[in-house]
This record gives sequence, structure tokens and C-alpha cells, in this order.
Amino acid sequence: MTARAATRPLGTVTRGTTNPNRLRRMDRWIAATHGAELRRAADPVAVDLGYGAAPWTAVELLQRLRTVAPRARVVGIEIEPARVAAALPYERAGLVFRHGGFELPIPQRPLLVRAANVLRQYEEDQVAAVWERLCGRLAPADPATGSRGGLLVEGTCDEIGRRHVWVALGPEGPRTVTFATRLGSLARPSDLAERLPKALIHRNVPGEPVHAFLRDFDRAWAAAAPYASYGARQRWIRAVRDLTADWPVVDGPARWRQGEVTLRWGALAPRG
Ligand SMILES: C[S@@+](CC[C@H](N)C(=O)[O-])C[C@H]1O[C@@H](n2cnc3c(N)ncnc32)[C@H](O)[C@@H]1O
Repeated sequence: MTARAATRPLGTVTRGTTNPNRLRRMDRWIAATHGAELRRAADPVAVDLGYGAAPWTAVELLQRLRTVAPRARVVGIEIEPARVAAALPYERAGLVFRHGGFELPIPQRPLLVRAANVLRQYEEDQVAAVWERLCGRLAPADPATGSRGGLLVEGTCDEIGRRHVWVALGPEGPRTVTFATRLGSLARPSDLAERLPKALIHRNVPGEPVHAFLRDFDRAWAAAAPYASYGARQRWIRAVRDLTADWPVVDGPARWRQGEVTLRWGALAPRG
């Protein structure tokens, strides 16, 4: 009898850099914007895809999701087997680790797939296919209950999570782009350009929407300079409010206060 060849995980092993609390901004945004979907699902499964050399981000994702959805479960998936072995001692109620890749080796259709600092190490022309594959695995929308289905959150941040940009996608495709930062660390909004996700990082050039957006954001930030005397938070809120005249900002002051702004993906999507 011949043994069936084990299926190779889809993707490539990359650097495993991670840090405790690195993804707190992303976790909090997910809890705030996707908490209701997670709460009402019968089995709210979330995937932390590519959690890296240590399992901190998966442990923290579980903790933060459970504050809004007590039944949430997290599956950490890593393509590097030694990183899975290193994570196993951290398994606990609601948290397991699996070896795998973009095929997502779990039977469920997850309510959330978070892939942070994973695609930055791939090629730009690979992103669309990975998005499509992962979106195809998400829990589907259900008009009967009003559910919009699962969410893929894919993005990039610096090593300690002060600057973040991520794209959120549903089963139907890309929805939004979020910029999130520790406001005290920011000289100007375009400082965030270095953390653009793979789909946008090479598009920060004249003629591309993301470049025009960051240019306008810097202008609004400069115009809001008088608000700096009330603190960087007030200046950010003022600058974002100005941006809403020309850009489809989808969130409001409660999120802006956190040093965030979220826009419709279509406004920043690459040309061509
Ligand atoms: C830079 S680390 C990011 C760790 C963590 N997500 C964070 O943001 O701190 C990227 C990890 O993604 C893993 N990875 C890359 N491609 C993957 C894939 N297709 N499936 C699962 N893991 C993958 C790499 O092996 C690496 O450990």
C-alpha cells in the first residue's frame, strides 16, 4: 500500500519577526468593527495566519476577541513547522495551533482571517490570488440574518505596532483601508507610507490614488497645525474631518480619536 503524499502548505516560509502587543491596534479595530458578527455566529472561528516565531499575537487576538465575543476561538496557522511546535505549549481553551498555509487547514469557514506582516514578504503580483483564495474560505454572507460574512484583515506594521495600515476584505472582495498610528510618534501622516500593505506599497507614486491621498492628508495635517496646541489627537481629528470633503472616510470621531481613519478601498485601489 502506498502512503498518500502529505499536501504541502500553500505559501513560503518567511522571517518570523513578531512582538508582544504588536498588533493591538488591529485587534481593537477588529473587535470594534467585527464584534457583532463574531458575537452572533454559532461557532466564531478566527485564524491568525502567519503568527511568526512566537505565538503572542494569537494569544492576544483570543483575549481581545473574547471581550466582545465570549465564544470566539482562534486557530494560529504557521507555515514553518518549528514555529508550530514552539507554539503548542501555549494552546489553551479556545486556542490551537496548526501547520499550514493559505489553504487554511481547518474544516470551518472562519469569521475572521487576520494576516499581519505576512504578504509584505511576497511579490506584489501574488497578492490578488492570495486575497481571492482567502476570501473564498470566509464564512459567507447570509441575507436571512443580515450577516455580511467573514472578514480578512491583511496589513503591515512596524516592529512595535506604532504604525499600521491594513485592508479589510469580505467574501465579496476588498472593502476598506485603515491607517492607524500612535499619534505622538507621527511627524506627518505620510510617515505611514512605509507601512502600506503589499497591494499599495509600490503604488505610492504620482498618478496613483494612494499617493494623492497621502499628499492630501499631509496638507490637511499642515492646515490643522493650530490644533497641535490641544495635542496631536485634536490635530488628527481636525485633519481627518477636512479629508472627508474629498475622500470616502467611512468611520467617525470615535475611531479618529484612536489615531485611526478608514476609507473605502475603491478610493485607494491601484490604477490599472
Ligand atoms: C513577519 S512574521 C509575522 C508574525 C505576526 N503575524 C506579526 O505580525 O507579528 C510572518 C510569518 O508568516 C509566516 N508565513 C508566511 N507565509 C505564510 C503562509 N502562506 N501561511 C502561513 N504562514 C505564513 C512566516 O513563516 C512568518 O513566520
